[in-house]
Amino acid sequence: MKITIKRLATVCLLASTLAQLNAQKTSTVTLNINDAKDKINKEIYGQFAEHLGTCIYGGLWVGEGSSIPNTNGYRNDVLQALKDIKLPLLRWPGGCFADEYHWMDGIGPRENRPRMVNNNWGGTVEDNSFGTHEFLNLCEILGCEPYVSMNVGSGSVEETAKWVEYMTAKDGPMAKLRKQNGRVEPWKVKYIGVGNESWGCGGNMRPEYYSDLYRRYQTYCREYNGNKLYKVASGASDYDYDWTETLMNRIGDKMQGLSLHYYTCYTWEGSKGSATKFNDDQYYWAIAKCGVGVEEVLKKQIAIMDRIDPKNKIDLLLDEWGTWWDEEPGSIPGHLYQQNTMRDAMVAAFSLNTFHQYTKRLKMCNIAQIANVLQSMVLTKEDKMVLTPTYHVFRMYVPNMESINIPVKVQSEKFIAENERKDDPERTSPYVSASASKMSDGTVVINLANADLKNGNTVTINLNGVKGKIQNAEILTSGDVKDHNTFEQPNKVVPTAFKDAKLSANGTLTVKMPKMSIVCLQIK
Ligand code: AHR
Repeated sequence: MKITIKRLATVCLLASTLAQLNAQKTSTVTLNINDAKDKINKEIYGQFAEHLGTCIYGGLWVGEGSSIPNTNGYRNDVLQALKDIKLPLLRWPGGCFADEYHWMDGIGPRENRPRMVNNNWGGTVEDNSFGTHEFLNLCEILGCEPYVSMNVGSGSVEETAKWVEYMTAKDGPMAKLRKQNGRVEPWKVKYIGVGNESWGCGGNMRPEYYSDLYRRYQTYCREYNGNKLYKVASGASDYDYDWTETLMNRIGDKMQGLSLHYYTCYTWEGSKGSATKFNDDQYYWAIAKCGVGVEEVLKKQIAIMDRIDPKNKIDLLLDEWGTWWDEEPGSIPGHLYQQNTMRDAMVAAFSLNTFHQYTKRLKMCNIAQIANVLQSMVLTKEDKMVLTPTYHVFRMYVPNMESINIPVKVQSEKFIAENERKDDPERTSPYVSASASKMSDGTVVINLANADLKNGNTVTINLNGVKGKIQNAEILTSGDVKDHNTFEQPNKVVPTAFKDAKLSANGTLTVKMPKMSIVCLQIK
């Protein structure tokens, strides 16, 4: 008898634990409609293309003579994919590559262009067949803003000055050279980066020295024929608040933007963790790092900027972010080719939801990188292309671009994420992340992510007077968090129509989210 009761108790405990594990949890989100005033710049959805691995060569550019369908050398499948996410901005040519790049090697007849060793990225020989014309023409085809990073690390002021003149002047010696190379009209170039990671691969400088160098270089970036430049200083890495403080004090309003880099990787010491093989703890740690983790960094960096620049004249630009995992086994070392799973999609959703909250100061965020490198939009292999789960998040979030951010308050159960390697702190993060925005026609966009691997979450959204019908509801989810798209199975993780959202008469929206899912919908 005694044994039976004990067994019964064990069975009950087990059943209740299982029920808890698979329970539908609840959260609430409140839209603070009255505080909606800051625009989510389209550049928050910016991208980055570096001469690194197959990002440019093979990913974007195959050359006019290629058997891969192309338009003037750019692959058609990738062009279409980028048009579908309304690519707003593209940063080029690096990254670390930018501080070894000499732009004059990349103009003129391709067969005459000198070669160079790409010292940062695997020692690959770069033939310079993709240069200034190829980049700026690509931006014109895509209708996106070019963002050109100048070589401060190993270049010269003269080289920088002449590059700006070559791209944007109507007349003069550089314009003449450009015309000889086939382009009569200057391009429109707004964003100029003065160096990249100048504390590291861009010259290992100290902030005081870089600040002076910045002031000198930017002086000779002239504005020709009304082309207004927006100059960006090479900002801090993650938690380096001293770099920000020094640049803010010493450069001041000689910069329009100050950059920041923040990557989600398991550790910088040794293995960064596999892109496709990870345990639940590693997954939760990545979600916390890219949500509450980046938020903490943004808050602290912005607090410094607010103190030194209370009138909010200098923008913060997160011009490199995303996941950085170990390179795919069998891929070329130094090419940073990695797969992209539902975990990366969740990272994208949590990150974008966070970025929206800081758009008063945060004006640009460029995910690294656009093709075949790190947390990319597309993966290509010869004539094949797959859209990654991260791409699908970017496509689902398009309506937020240029919309007004509606600040949100989220109440959701939290998880604790511990990094067993201890080189990054333990963090507590809500399972549910949310953001909302108001489009110019009044449509309200709602973006939700439930990071929970085991439980669904019923999210009750207090709309605070927003009225209309549910439109364009989509969900991105998959059976397993490690699911990803491959050349053999390109549609394993794709968005589908979402039906589990209901508006009630009392002005609330109820969204029944499955475990590990991202839902975007509109109310109009
Ligand atoms: O995106 C890859 C590299 O990461 C960039 O070249 C560099 O700026 C950063 O360290």
